[in-house]
Amino acid sequence: MAKNAPGTSSGLVRWLGVVSLPCLLLAGFAAAGGWFSPHRVTQNTLLSALQGVDGKHPGFRRNHAKGVCVAGWYEGSGAAAALSTAFAFRAERVPVIGRFALAGGMPYQGDAPGKVRSIALSLMAPDGQEWRMGLNDIPVFPVSTPQEFQALQKAVRPDPVTGKPDPGAVAAFRQAHPWLAAAGMALAHRQVTSGFESDTYRSLNSFILQDAKGQTHPVRFAMVPEEQHFNEAPEQGKDSLFQQLDEALSSHPLRWNLVLTLAGKGEDVRDPSRQWSQNDQQIEAGTLTLDRIESETTGACTGITFDPLILPPGIAPSDDPVLQARSAAYMRSFAERSREGRPVPAFSPSAPTRPDSPATVPVPEKAS
Ligand code: HEM
Repeated sequence: MAKNAPGTSSGLVRWLGVVSLPCLLLAGFAAAGGWFSPHRVTQNTLLSALQGVDGKHPGFRRNHAKGVCVAGWYEGSGAAAALSTAFAFRAERVPVIGRFALAGGMPYQGDAPGKVRSIALSLMAPDGQEWRMGLNDIPVFPVSTPQEFQALQKAVRPDPVTGKPDPGAVAAFRQAHPWLAAAGMALAHRQVTSGFESDTYRSLNSFILQDAKGQTHPVRFAMVPEEQHFNEAPEQGKDSLFQQLDEALSSHPLRWNLVLTLAGKGEDVRDPSRQWSQNDQQIEAGTLTLDRIESETTGACTGITFDPLILPPGIAPSDDPVLQARSAAYMRSFAERSREGRPVPAFSPSAPTRPDSPATVPVPEKAS
């Protein structure tokens, strides 16, 4: 018996040695996956929260899943050149790849007029510099932090029985976040335009322009259409907004002005749920012209994630925490959908280009 004792304990030590490594690894993965901290916000938890609302649709963007590719060009006016050294503020023309979309993770959702619409753009300078942006047609963002974004997604997650959000959970979210009431009111009373082509799209997050003397200027920006039509509800139909955009782009180019709003004294630069004053100074920094539309099956926009932190020298992120969370979530969404393969999009334009269009656009080629 006395001989067996050391054998037993050394066996136990050997056994512990064998199981401890996999246990440690498992614990590491669990910690990284947020199992021990369910309220943590990571790129994975943000995507799971989005998926909890609209389900999983392999190959599609995890948000703004229904969309179409567009292309054209952008020309700086020079009016903002004193505020930033970025190429987009010089009086120069650069090519643009873009995407119009509806917010939400459902790629085959119907085009209800009140759904949040977006435009995403990549402006490419000849020397390889690039400015990517994703803008929504709402006056403010409904939440001020990534944590609140995640909590809101959980609150509006459809109940498996009714298929609708639980009103109690939504009311509890509102009650716990009274500072978001003003944003909620602004969103509830926003005016809806007749379609993608006549909409104003806003950055919502703030950015910092850097001038040649090293001075910084906090701004928000918007794409404001040359022609804006309110209160003309588009025809109801599954893809009616996309069809209308296709028809408009097939008949003539569409134009937007890039309008910068400079933060006046006391504006909240960190919080996208706070509206800025109507009296803040505005500058027309350039014009966007779109004249081509193409399905996501073949269009260049599919290979791009419009990460708002892909910025050229002369534009920097503000310390709004939503920007960093967006960047992380977009990259994760891109990585996941890229390895899932290309699905069939809901909408494909009737004609990929206007017959007289591409050859007439004198834009420089993108540097590789
Ligand atoms: C924490 C907050 C947010 C999260 C987690 C989030 C998440 C996402 C994700 C995962 C995508 C899909 C990206 C891809 O696969 O390429 C997306 C698309 C988009 N988001 Fe957000 N988003 C947030 C806030 C915002 C804000 C503040 C805006 C402001 C305008 C915005 C505008 C857009 C636009 C325009 C697109 C579509 C881009 C495209 O057409 O490819 N998002 N978002």
